[in-house]
Amino acid sequence: MNDAHIRSIVILGGGTAGWMSAALLAKVMGRKRRITLVESEEIGTIGVGEATVPPLQLFNGLLGVDENEFLRATNGTFKLGIEFVDWGRLGARYFHPFGRHGDHFDVAPFHQYWLKCRLAGKAAPIDEFSLCAAAARCSRFQRPPTKDPRSIWSTFSYAFHFDASAYAAFLRRYAEARGATRVEGKVADVRLRAEDGFVDRLVLADGREIAGDLFIDCSGFRALLIGQALGVGDEDWSHWLPADRAVAVQCENAGPLLPYTRSTARRAGWRWRIPLQHRVGAGYVFVSDYLSEDEAAADLLAGLDGPALAEPRLLKFRTGRRKAFWAKNVVAVGLAGGFLEPLESTSIHLIQTALTKLASWFPDRRFDPMIVAEYNRLHHLETERIRDFIILHYKATEREDSPLWRYCRNMPIPDSLAEKMELFRRYGKLKQLEGDFFQDASWLAVMLGQFVTPERNDPIADLHETEPLAKTLETMRAIIARTAKDMPEHAAFVERSCAAAAA
Ligand code: FDA
Repeated sequence: MNDAHIRSIVILGGGTAGWMSAALLAKVMGRKRRITLVESEEIGTIGVGEATVPPLQLFNGLLGVDENEFLRATNGTFKLGIEFVDWGRLGARYFHPFGRHGDHFDVAPFHQYWLKCRLAGKAAPIDEFSLCAAAARCSRFQRPPTKDPRSIWSTFSYAFHFDASAYAAFLRRYAEARGATRVEGKVADVRLRAEDGFVDRLVLADGREIAGDLFIDCSGFRALLIGQALGVGDEDWSHWLPADRAVAVQCENAGPLLPYTRSTARRAGWRWRIPLQHRVGAGYVFVSDYLSEDEAAADLLAGLDGPALAEPRLLKFRTGRRKAFWAKNVVAVGLAGGFLEPLESTSIHLIQTALTKLASWFPDRRFDPMIVAEYNRLHHLETERIRDFIILHYKATEREDSPLWRYCRNMPIPDSLAEKMELFRRYGKLKQLEGDFFQDASWLAVMLGQFVTPERNDPIADLHETEPLAKTLETMRAIIARTAKDMPEHAAFVERSCAAAAA
């Protein structure tokens, strides 16, 4: 019998990270462990972070949350991927879809057969072989009607856009209903144990004290526990990911409800567009060395769909990560653990995977260093892989029209990424690395979309004659286009889903 069980968990922060932590722990532990979340309304949350990646479906599933209920509560919409505009070249656009391209084919991956035909001038662009991209193009959506792995639907996946504060409120109701306790107050001091430097308790501005065995630091960029109290420093990645500011605003939606995020490269960074049911979230992520805050705000406001619903807000950050996500009895989750940048909507995903890893490597009060080390190794690896994928977008550009793009074109990149790009350029092969969240389809979309073009296809594809192969591809393309056109309009599907939740 283990008498060293964690008895009490304290979560500092009530943003997306804090309430995702509280919800998952409350679901897993129920009332068997004390879960306390401390947050300060006066400090507030970062208030952005509204685009996600498909595994959020699993997170909601783990909680047992009904997807329609979630959409209704968060003004959510569906997301089939990201459209990238002006990234590889001015005037060029491509789609990073959430599902695979094409269908299972033969022993080599689909894209090798496509590449053979494409190099011979006999295949449409790769986007046309993606069901997600085809549906996105005509603003359509439905959930896959079958899970049959031989069906074209097996190449289809989706995520969500949602209102971040509504999601936090939704999770708060969920966690509190399962026994988590919320404490309103501002942490003024953090007391450490004299014998080992572990966090002992939080002291609030009004003198209340909150003790615990395990502390989850969700205090955002302040990193109050992991950074300020324990002194764990961070690794600076701004030489690879130089954006350090964003201006964000919400506006009215003027067009159809698009089932995807749009990212448009600009002179000193990029602009996002995230469609929700009731509004569009927009922002400009930029490098302050190359653009002033006023210029960024003016660019953002000039490119909105409809009237702004508030004044633009400025956010400052530095890209990088904590040297350790878990130190002593503190685990940093969310922005307290670092921030890459929002280009591929991966921060909320990293919150999710931090929590699922913590559940798999849950400690007892001895906090065995072996467990802590493995958790850190796994999460470091995952962060580095995502970092490489985001750097690829900046590096693989032919743009020369501004100092930012000239810098990015020429900057040295991590060896892991350089090798991956070179292998693709030479042979169209995609190297799989441990911990890579982004699968081949994602790397393929971005490399091809940004003109990292393979010189030749895999020799296995040469076992097929080009003409019949091209015909097979054309049939596949036509099926994909037809399947997309047969889906309901995205707006109608969202409306029906929300109505089903309300019923
Ligand atoms: P957040 O700052 O929201 O919360 C911190 C909490 O700690 C607050 O409740 C605060 O009150 C509390 N706190 C701090 N100090 C305290 C004290 N002394 N006492 C008491 N409480 C205290 N991610 C993504 O997946 N998709 C996206 O599209 C984007 N987009 C995006 C754009 C931009 C410009 C940025 C900067 C970030 C994103 N993100 C994102 C990241 C996303 O916003 C982020 O991962 C989540 O909102 C989680 O934030 P946190 O909960 O970690 O911090």
